[in-house]
Amino acid sequence: MSTTKHVVNASRTVLSDTPSPLAMDPGVFYHLGMLAVEMAAEYLEELPARPVFGPMTPVERERLLNQPLPEHGMSPEAIFDFFEQHILPHAMGNQHPRFAAWVNPAAAPIGMLAEFLAAVMNPSAAGGDHAAIYLEHCTVRWLMELIGFPVEGSTGLLVGGGSVASLYCLAVARQWAANIDGWNVRTEGLQGDHRPLMLYISEEGHSCLRKASQLLGLGEPRRVAVDAQFKLDVPALRAEVRADRKAGLRPFCVVASAGTVNTGAVDPLDALADFCTEEGLWLHVDGAYGAFGILDPNVSHLFTGLSRADSVALDPHKWLATPIECSCAIVREGPLLRETFSLVPPYLQTEPDRGFGGLPWFSEYGFQQTRRFNALKLAWVIQQAGRAGLVDHVSRHNALAQYMAQLIDAAPDMERMAPVELSIVCFRYVPEALQGDDDELSALNHQIMEEIQVGGEAFLNGTMLHGRFVLRSCALHYALTEQDVVAIIEEVRRVGTQCIA
Ligand SMILES: Cc1ncc(COP(=O)(O)O)c(C=O)c1O
Repeated sequence: MSTTKHVVNASRTVLSDTPSPLAMDPGVFYHLGMLAVEMAAEYLEELPARPVFGPMTPVERERLLNQPLPEHGMSPEAIFDFFEQHILPHAMGNQHPRFAAWVNPAAAPIGMLAEFLAAVMNPSAAGGDHAAIYLEHCTVRWLMELIGFPVEGSTGLLVGGGSVASLYCLAVARQWAANIDGWNVRTEGLQGDHRPLMLYISEEGHSCLRKASQLLGLGEPRRVAVDAQFKLDVPALRAEVRADRKAGLRPFCVVASAGTVNTGAVDPLDALADFCTEEGLWLHVDGAYGAFGILDPNVSHLFTGLSRADSVALDPHKWLATPIECSCAIVREGPLLRETFSLVPPYLQTEPDRGFGGLPWFSEYGFQQTRRFNALKLAWVIQQAGRAGLVDHVSRHNALAQYMAQLIDAAPDMERMAPVELSIVCFRYVPEALQGDDDELSALNHQIMEEIQVGGEAFLNGTMLHGRFVLRSCALHYALTEQDVVAIIEEVRRVGTQCIA
């Protein structure tokens, strides 16, 4: 007996005498923290004068890809050095004001600081009686208020991306439809003898909606035609739904886009809400890119009907400049979200307001158990700007896109390829010699895009509209200026001239 005690005590003495390999002295932490902030501040200050993007050399790629697993630890100084030399210089480019591709804008500096401090606290926002939970409830409500969505009875939670937000909302829609038809999709799956559920998205709907439909066992959704403005065509939708009902299918949900990824078109939300009410369908709005456009008084009328949606996907990591990842799934009939996801094993059971319980846990409203503390960065971005500041932020981008459209419309060698409703401009370079030759113009503009992307002066992406390749510029950077817009167009012209020469 006494021997065992001796052994246990001995091993304890040894363990506590040896610091953990991951421990850090507070003084060292402070010093490294200051170094990190210095490095970040310098980087951000110099960023606008640097190339937007530069491809990595094979050696640089290899260096990151094939690092051997370190057998022994490195000093934090060596780790920092490696970061500064070999990682930081090879950023994606989206922090740069002249990065106008996709929908990956820069993060606001206040959000970067929040990311750091959220990691210092490192809670799991699964649930419990702690600050991260209450802040998430608060920020989700702020998002609802920002887009004019009814707060009472609605529920939402922060998720990793707009794709995940739509996946969650469509899972709730599926649950709702099965409930109405008298079966339980959670327990039965899609194995039973039920009319096949059918989802409707527009031809311009984001690819994540097709992925979500596939993942939920619904197969390919119906791709409804769009009108000349790239908006979902309601008569075409009506015809598809009618034909599907006749064929014995079970239409259950329509997805509208509040800002398509290609052109920024906002589908006719109010008409779609009317249609879904008439037909007993769930209306989901994919507002990942554009729903915050409602804040711009010049275009807010386009969003009439958004507040009538059954669910909405939002992406603060897009137009609200919150560091990636930060998105939100919102469901009008809140309890349905919990019904779709709740599964609480004994080891996680708590009582509301007793012990660690707090409010019902977020992990009952989604798939993830352990969850990031994303609310802090979102709260800080919203707090720094305020509602009025966000109105300014969003309106500025729409105005810059209109400015770009005017410059393109006035240029004899440029052609605008879609209406500009929000902050996306689709256009192409059209030298006189190639006018009317769509195939050549598509090939040329594709080449222009690639040359610009590696050139470092600006960064655009492209997309296909009516079978033609077009350049796509998306104004979302908080520091974008009119001079940047001019510089982007001049770069297209310069590279275009070079390509045809
Ligand atoms: C309209 C739209 N929906 C969904 C998504 C997907 O969002 P995420 O990339 O955050 O998953 C995007 C991304 O650009 C988008 O623009």
